[in-house]
Amino acid sequence: MYLDALKRVTCTVHEILASHVKDGDVVVDATCGNGNDTKALLELVGSGRVYALDVQPSAIENTRRFDNGHLKLFLQNHKDIDEVILPEDHGRIKAVVYNLGYLPGSDKTVKTNKDDLIVSLKKVLPLLAGGGIVLICCYSHDEGQREFKALKDFCSGLSGAYDAYLFYRLNRKDVPKLLILTKT
Ligand SMILES: C[S@@+](CC[C@H](N)C(=O)[O-])C[C@H]1O[C@@H](n2cnc3c(N)ncnc32)[C@H](O)[C@@H]1O
Repeated sequence: MYLDALKRVTCTVHEILASHVKDGDVVVDATCGNGNDTKALLELVGSGRVYALDVQPSAIENTRRFDNGHLKLFLQNHKDIDEVILPEDHGRIKAVVYNLGYLPGSDKTVKTNKDDLIVSLKKVLPLLAGGGIVLICCYSHDEGQREFKALKDFCSGLSGAYDAYLFYRLNRKDVPKLLILTKT
């Protein structure tokens, strides 16, 4: 991993995805926003499938421009993620990405929240493939701090089937944190 990628959490996420997601895989972008993560995922899965969700119609339209026939796009809260994943993909999901917060340059009142996030995680973890990962970018605004605390509580109660890792810069409090969940 290059130093530049370490400095931006979204780049770190893309580096991890690039080494983990392969042609034919099924993955989820739980907060697709402008579609940058979805675009990267579509390139990695090739003949596979990307599910992308967001609660804002503009986010869905921004992401639709990357549709290459392997994208399943939903104007849907990620707390209802179980309603969009096809039964044939249960237990096949190789990676899930949550880039939390609000869409830069958009309505900042439309942002992720801890309650929907935890409901979503409880639903998505059982759908992961063995060796599947969940990557969560958390930010330092007020709701971001509440999300991070809720995530820490949630992770401390996880069964031994999962591992939880935290990646952040010790010398900077105001930069995003990356939480990584893996399924054995
Ligand atoms: C930081 S942005 C995501 C950026 C995006 N991944 C990209 O590559 O451009 C966070 C997004 O989460 C969306 N969002 C907020 N609450 C949500 C929820 N409960 N379910 C799904 N998306 C949500 C917002 O509308 C916003 O587009």
